[in-house]
Amino acid sequence: MQNRNNHTGAVVIPAAGSGTRMGGNQPKQFLPVSGTPILALTIGRFLAVPEITGIVVPVAPDHHGTVTRLLTAFFSGADQQRITVVTGGATRQESVLAGLEAIPVDIPVILVHDGARPFVSATIIRQCLCECVAHGAAIAAVRVSDTIKEAAGKEVRRTIDRRNLWRAQTPQGAKGELLRHAYGLAERDGFTGTDEASLLEHAGIPVRIVEGSEQNFKITRPDDLVLAAALSTGVAQMRVGHGFDAHKFKSGRKLILGGVTIPHDLGLEGHSDADTLTHALIDALLGAMGAGDIGRHFPDHDEQFRNIRSLTLLEKVMALATEKNMVMVNADITIICQYPKLAPHIDEMRANLARACRIEPGAVNIKATTTEMMGFTGRGEGIAAHAVVLMGPAGPKNTGTA
Ligand code: CTP
Ligand code: MG
Repeated sequence: MQNRNNHTGAVVIPAAGSGTRMGGNQPKQFLPVSGTPILALTIGRFLAVPEITGIVVPVAPDHHGTVTRLLTAFFSGADQQRITVVTGGATRQESVLAGLEAIPVDIPVILVHDGARPFVSATIIRQCLCECVAHGAAIAAVRVSDTIKEAAGKEVRRTIDRRNLWRAQTPQGAKGELLRHAYGLAERDGFTGTDEASLLEHAGIPVRIVEGSEQNFKITRPDDLVLAAALSTGVAQMRVGHGFDAHKFKSGRKLILGGVTIPHDLGLEGHSDADTLTHALIDALLGAMGAGDIGRHFPDHDEQFRNIRSLTLLEKVMALATEKNMVMVNADITIICQYPKLAPHIDEMRANLARACRIEPGAVNIKATTTEMMGFTGRGEGIAAHAVVLMGPAGPKNTGTA
């Protein structure tokens, strides 16, 4: 994991902007992505790299309280000791300068990374450190992949050769004395740039490129939040749920499991069609959604649910999932039943449940087991079922603005 050369350095993470392009009533760096504020995600990326010895965060004067609360909520005491909060300025450049002033002069390399760029990898951070040591100054950047047009208003003027074009990202940095020199010179000349490289270029300092990543994008406009949520989807937005149900055998009732009517001399007792298997799945889905249980949604004293097909209830639960912008990823269900033999019906059950859940049958696993004549299922008094499901985000919400 460790960088072989073990080059160390500090990072300034400017977070004093107001996020005008994002809009809304709080600066974008405090907006949550999968429950964690963007700034906390960004800081976390640097805390995960031991070669980063210090992190300085310039923030707007009226956001000191917000940032202090954020640091205590998301980082351990030891991590917080690596972080210094300072007051930023009216422009990104002024904020970074305020950050530089808080870094001891003996720190060999100083990186700067936007507070609103939460998906930078440890590899990119380390490569920037190494390139700064080897060449003086470096930035992360990605090659331009679209064809680039120059236009006058909406009128295309010409196509620009993109072969030598890169989009600058952050981290950007340099050996401490070079970066301080570039900032000093910019201040003296009244030169303003939107990144460190502009200032280094202004000072005549050569800057090396480190391959960045499309994932290392800056959250700037509302659409970027959709991308950010999708990227952080991984584990953060997954939800697991568990369901259990059992029903007693009763004569004169049909035996319905997973929507399949199974030939047997006994059926299951219940207010609905007593489809134990589907009920366990419904409870697992409601569990994953944090939405209570089947009894809360379909009370057994409510006449509208008398003898109702449980597959219809499952469809209603999936409609609730859609409302919550969630989809089912997969389910694993175990039916506990001494008899009848269920194996011949399992494919049809899978197909029924998968259709209701709008998922491919392969994602709905159904197993049946006996309990070797033990317990209530073993004595043939009834049937039980356990289900676990995984649910995830359905993707971007249709906000109606696109
Ligand atoms: N930044 C800063 N101080 C400023 C302006 C910007 O520390 N006076 C920080 C932002 O908080 C952000 C990074 O610099 O983390 C990159 O700037 P940008 O994406 O432009 O953020 P904002 O300036 O907040 O957004 P906008 O330009 O849309 O207002
Ligand atoms: Mg800005």
